[in-house]
Amino acid sequence: MSEKIIEIRQLNKKFVSEKGEVAALTDVSLEIEKKDIYGIIGLSGAGKSTLVRCMNLLERPSSGEVIVNGKSLTELSDRQLRTERRKIGMIFQHFNLLMQRSVVDNVAFPLEISGHRKKDARKKALEYLEAVGLTEKANAYPAQLSGGQKQRVAIARVLASKPEILLCDEATSALDPQTTKSILSLLKEINEKYGITIVVITHEMSVIQEICDHVAVLEHGKLVESGTTEQLFRSPKTAEARRLVFSGSEHILEMTSERVVRISFHGGSAYEPTLGNIVLETKTPVNILYANTQTVNGEAEGEMLIQLPADNDKADRIVEYFREKGLDPEEVKEYAESAGNTDDN
Ligand SMILES: Nc1ncnc2c1ncn2[C@@H]1O[C@H](COP(=O)(O)OP(=O)(O)OP(=O)(O)O)[C@@H](O)[C@H]1O
Ligand SMILES: [Mg+2]
Repeated sequence: MSEKIIEIRQLNKKFVSEKGEVAALTDVSLEIEKKDIYGIIGLSGAGKSTLVRCMNLLERPSSGEVIVNGKSLTELSDRQLRTERRKIGMIFQHFNLLMQRSVVDNVAFPLEISGHRKKDARKKALEYLEAVGLTEKANAYPAQLSGGQKQRVAIARVLASKPEILLCDEATSALDPQTTKSILSLLKEINEKYGITIVVITHEMSVIQEICDHVAVLEHGKLVESGTTEQLFRSPKTAEARRLVFSGSEHILEMTSERVVRISFHGGSAYEPTLGNIVLETKTPVNILYANTQTVNGEAEGEMLIQLPADNDKADRIVEYFREKGLDPEEVKEYAESAGNTDDN
């Protein structure tokens, strides 16, 4: 049975400044299951950091509930809140290491603070450094490490406090794609090995795709879509989700015909012969506007946007053909709109 570890209910967060009021979060509700890797994606300013900071009450919601492990955080005393917060770790884009302390001392630091004897703290720190593959850097200083290594230190440090939940706010945003991959696979390993629930905040769909089981899309402080990662990739329902899934596919903007169909294939579907056959059968070339194959949680997923011929009968035949082949055709109207609409701010 799935057990909820985080429940957010009708969360609102307003910031008041001289310039007026900013509604950073409006009526956000979501549930995160224990041991899940849950992604929250959105553009800059969407409210991601605010939402994740509400999960440990670093930010107090204006209204709504944050329930962690069955406890409503806003109703706890300061002392109770401190206890609950200890179960929630956090890592950031800029690592937040202590520059004057060696790697092992960085990891040992929170252990010392929480009352471990220096020697024990060091011993434990070395264990966690081993878990993140950094044993040989134990005596180095943060300035001597690469970004990926710094993030490993930050992860070892957070593991040392044995969190049940790990909040990652753009933890890979300062890293190159390959290092990002290695850090993400470390997070996945941690999730499996220690059973830690992980919340991943990102503006990159590739991060979601790489490790998240579930995902929520935030837009202007509102949660516009949520579900499994697979669902989001297979059939993004909102313009915002589509824009994120299809980000980087500018050629969609060049589309001239009105009728566009989206097909998706999962694992086995042979889309190539299908396309070839369709051309043969209808004697009409189809225009591939966008194609993408990716691995979501180890399973091949792919999709194409196909511009249908201007002749409606032929277009209908093509759609029917896709349907017969189980390619799940879906006529889409808003792609041009959603891909082109980037003038948010
Ligand atoms: N302390 C604050 N005071 C006033 N406004 C704030 C404060 N913190 C955040 N905001 C505003 O709330 C909105 C959401 O900000 P938030 O940092 O949560 O976005 P984000 O999705 O994390 O963005 P990014 O991807 O750039 O990190 C923004 O409009 C931001 O300016
Ligand atoms: Mg942020």
